[in-house]
Formats: sequence, structure tokens, C-alpha cells
Amino acid sequence: MSYQGSFRVWRGDDQSGGLVDYRVEVNEGEVVLDIIHRLQATQAPDLAVRWNCKAGKCGSCSAEINGKPRLLCMTRMSTFTEDETITVTPLRTFPVEKDLVTDVSFNYEKSREIPAFAPPEGVAPGDYRMSQWDVERSQEFRKCIECFLCQDVCHVVRDHEDNKQHFAGPRFLMRITELDMHPLDAADRREAARTEHGIGWCNITKCCTEVCPEHIKITDNALIPLKERVADRYYDPIVWLGNKIRRRST
Ligand code: SF4
Ligand code: SF4
Ligand code: FES
Repeated sequence: MSYQGSFRVWRGDDQSGGLVDYRVEVNEGEVVLDIIHRLQATQAPDLAVRWNCKAGKCGSCSAEINGKPRLLCMTRMSTFTEDETITVTPLRTFPVEKDLVTDVSFNYEKSREIPAFAPPEGVAPGDYRMSQWDVERSQEFRKCIECFLCQDVCHVVRDHEDNKQHFAGPRFLMRITELDMHPLDAADRREAARTEHGIGWCNITKCCTEVCPEHIKITDNALIPLKERVADRYYDPIVWLGNKIRRRST
């Protein structure tokens, strides 16, 4: 069963742009990315959109649909009524390159700021066994497809461009948590989480968790535990006393 759907798609570049209305054929079983492709094929051959797998696994088709951060390839047309106008816009938190394509390099810069996994010297491959509990705890975080929808929705950077310098965002705070929870990681990541990556700015609104297409419990399982680890490090009276004694003796 087919019908003509109403769409408003943001067209433009880093200089100017606006919403353009289109009527596009919609067929049973299609997702929003199918409609964008049909639009390219029939009416707007120069429409820019980034995508790759069309299976919710590459994380490249992130955009905003009716104002909500979503994957274009995982948003079924059947979730909308036939008379609804569907608005498709680029991720708001990152600079537009063209149409639905944004420059997400902010995220790669944040990724590079996090030191890699650091096992202690002298541990040869095979010398160490992790408990299954430790494996499972971080397994959830490794489902991340780096779509950056959580980075897009987080109000700390979405509404305050100036904060970008001081806040890694949920995806990368989650990466710090993952490494900090690893029993073999020798780096103390809590100082940097507090000072360089801005964990204190997260006020656990859970918006990041709500948009994650992999259903990772970013706030409950990564951000709150990281906050607790940082609090233990800085505000636990015994740790505080230990740090003070260590500082005096050096
Ligand atoms: S829970 Fe924290 S990181 Fe997630 S959206 Fe809210 S403020 Fe941002
Ligand atoms: S945590 Fe979820 S929303 Fe954030 S980048 Fe990874 S998959 Fe996307
Ligand atoms: S095209 Fe790969 S996640 Fe949508």
C-alpha cells in the first residue's frame, strides 16, 4: 500500500538554509532513509545525506526527525500517520556541512583526548584473567555504534557552544568509565574526568539514554558510577587523608 507523504527537509549549507516542502511516495515497510533516497532519485539529486549500512550499525545516518535525534535508517514510516508532515533536519549540535550532513569532528577530537587502555608493565598477553562480572560490566558500553545522537541531545553542549571545550559528552564520559572499570587499566582517570572532561557538568537528565539506538543505559550504568568514583576519589574522608599524607611526604 502506497501513499504520498508530506516531508519538510532542511536544505542549505554553513552559510544559509531553510526547510523545503516535498511530497514523496511512501511504501509499506519503508524507513525514513528510504524516503530520503527516493527524494534524491526523483526530485533533489543534490540532496546531501550521510549513510552507509542501512542496518543501524554504522552510526552515520544520524539526523533529527520531528526535532528528535534519530537514525534515519531505523525510523519506520509506520510510526507516523499518513497525514502527518515529517520534518527532517541535521543534528543541531554540530556545524552543518550541507543539507543533512554535519561536521561531527568534535567527537573525534574528544575521543583523541582520552588516553588509551593502559595495562601495567610486565603483564604479558595471557598472564591475566578477568572475572566474568568485570567483562559483562563494560560489555554494554561496547555496543556503541558512535552515532553521536547522545552527544547531539545533551543540553550541556547543545545549548551552550562554549561548553564544548570543557565537556567530553556522554559517549566519551562512558568510554572513560569503561576504562576506569577495567581491572587491568593502570591509569587513574578520575582526575581528568573531573577537570578536563567535565563529568561534574552532567546533571543526569538521562536525555542521552533516551535517544541511544543501542539502548545503552548511559546515565545509570556509566555516568552515575563515574560520578561516584570521582566523589570517592575526592570526597571520601579516608582517601582525602591518604592523599594529604602522600602530598606531604613527597
Ligand atoms: S545525563 Fe548528563 S550527559 Fe546525558 S544528556 Fe543529561 S547532562 Fe548530558
Ligand atoms: S552511546 Fe548510544 S547514542 Fe551515544 S554514540 Fe553510542 S550508540 Fe550512539
Ligand atoms: S545507515 Fe548505518 S546506522 Fe543508519
